[in-house]
Amino acid sequence: MREISSAWKKKGETIGFVPTMGCLHPGHMSLVERAKNENSKVVLSIFVNPAQFAPGEDFERYPRDFERDEKFCKKKGVDIIFYPSAGEMYPAKNSTVISLPRLANKLCGKTRAGHFKGVTLVVTKLFNIISPQKAYFGQKDYQQYRIIQTLTDDLNFPTEIVLCPIVREESGLALSSRNIYLNKREKKAAERIYATLMKAKETTNMRELEEFLKEEELITVEYLKLVDSYTLHTNAKGSLVVIAAYVGKTRLIDNILL
Ligand code: PAF
Repeated sequence: MREISSAWKKKGETIGFVPTMGCLHPGHMSLVERAKNENSKVVLSIFVNPAQFAPGEDFERYPRDFERDEKFCKKKGVDIIFYPSAGEMYPAKNSTVISLPRLANKLCGKTRAGHFKGVTLVVTKLFNIISPQKAYFGQKDYQQYRIIQTLTDDLNFPTEIVLCPIVREESGLALSSRNIYLNKREKKAAERIYATLMKAKETTNMRELEEFLKEEELITVEYLKLVDSYTLHTNAKGSLVVIAAYVGKTRLIDNILL
């Protein structure tokens, strides 16, 4: 990957990078389209990163379908799929920890122990291997985006982080590889998450919004907060509403920038 990447750069090509864990959906494809528009080459990585799953999470059952993903990528004109094994990415037990506690200890970081340390480690490794000029992240994982943006600034990575809008089903449900876990009834119930975000345009009374979200009996709220979109601190004057909720046994996240 390094050889290809430096040969491309010598020829004056620019590299747009889309990091993924596979099970690609139109949300990922919108990142690829943006990367294609803004760069001469596009690299997409598929790596279900064990380091970002806490014990008891869905690492084993996380959906994997390389052949389907490969077709998707060919159709969209991805130049290279970088598809390493866990042994190649983590040949030895890693000692390096990259932690951004101020951004990572809240929201999803509160319940997903070590998750963001796994994300920052793998993204750092991928950036060092691929050396892209631009990297594309979806807004659905807004906290991840803020952490990667800060990591990139703090460590002087020569990579520009591009935030891309959430892609939704017609019902408003944000596309996610984990939507595959939802049965029909749960999928319907999950629509309440987007409906709550829409309601946040009218009121930012969090108690009222939480009551509305909880009216759907299959939903268990993990957090619903109004936060500052830069610091992620809870802030009554913030502009970002973030939700994490279980629909049955499936944990979904979503957000809206007001
Ligand atoms: O958002 C994801 O799919 C993952 O967290 C990422 C950025 C590919 C790192 O494993």
